Amino acid sequence: MSGERRDLGGPVYLRHLHEDDIDPRYVAWFADPEVTRFLDARNITREESIAYLRAGRTSGRYFMHAICRADDERHIGNLKIGPIHPRHRTSDLVTVIGDRASWGRGFAREAIRIGVQIAFGEHNIRKMSASIDSANIASLKAYQAAGFFIEATLQDQFIFYDGTTDKVFVSCFNPDYRT
Ligand SMILES: CC(C)(COP(=O)(O)OP(=O)(O)OC[C@H]1O[C@@H](n2cnc3c(N)ncnc32)[C@H](O)[C@@H]1OP(=O)(O)O)[C@@H](O)C(=O)NCCC(=O)NCCS
Repeated sequence: MSGERRDLGGPVYLRHLHEDDIDPRYVAWFADPEVTRFLDARNITREESIAYLRAGRTSGRYFMHAICRADDERHIGNLKIGPIHPRHRTSDLVTVIGDRASWGRGFAREAIRIGVQIAFGEHNIRKMSASIDSANIASLKAYQAAGFFIEATLQDQFIFYDGTTDKVFVSCFNPDYRT
């Protein structure tokens, strides 16, 4: 494993995402309808994924991390910090656990906590946010368990099966910026 390992002593750690990580298993995550149900990124090819990783590195606007299990070091998902707004010091944080067998064990919650530490500590981010489909209960729970609060809700923003769902913004402030 290369890339600096970041952890909080819990069941997962983060490291930089590498081009080698983007293998058939990775591509399969983004072709899995269960994984991509609430994602814009779906059916992305290996080439597109590598180009996206490189564009983040070159631009410095976003940073891709691999989420890895502490027990066997397996790469199970990604956490993206960004896009970062350089003037306002805000950033999105996107979490995907592609390995469905690893869902529901608190791995996203732990990864988000580590991601927030990296964003605040290394990228000087003032405020992190994520936008979540209100039907994505697991995501809402994981972000809130990691310290985010519900800041705003846009009603009926998404078409979901026969109905509509809301877009929920969750946020988290860097305490070093607040009085
Ligand atoms: C959303 C996602 C990141 C959650 O990952 P995870 O590792 O399973 O999350 P965690 O285990 O940390 O927390 C999920 C919580 O939701 C609960 N949960 C899971 N599915 C649920 C459901 N359908 N209904 C209610 N609760 C649910 C879990 O029991 C857990 O609750 P707990 O904290 O009380 O134990 C993961 O399912 C995923 O990657 N999904 C696909 C991509 C995606 O939607 N990403 C989010 C984009 S905003």
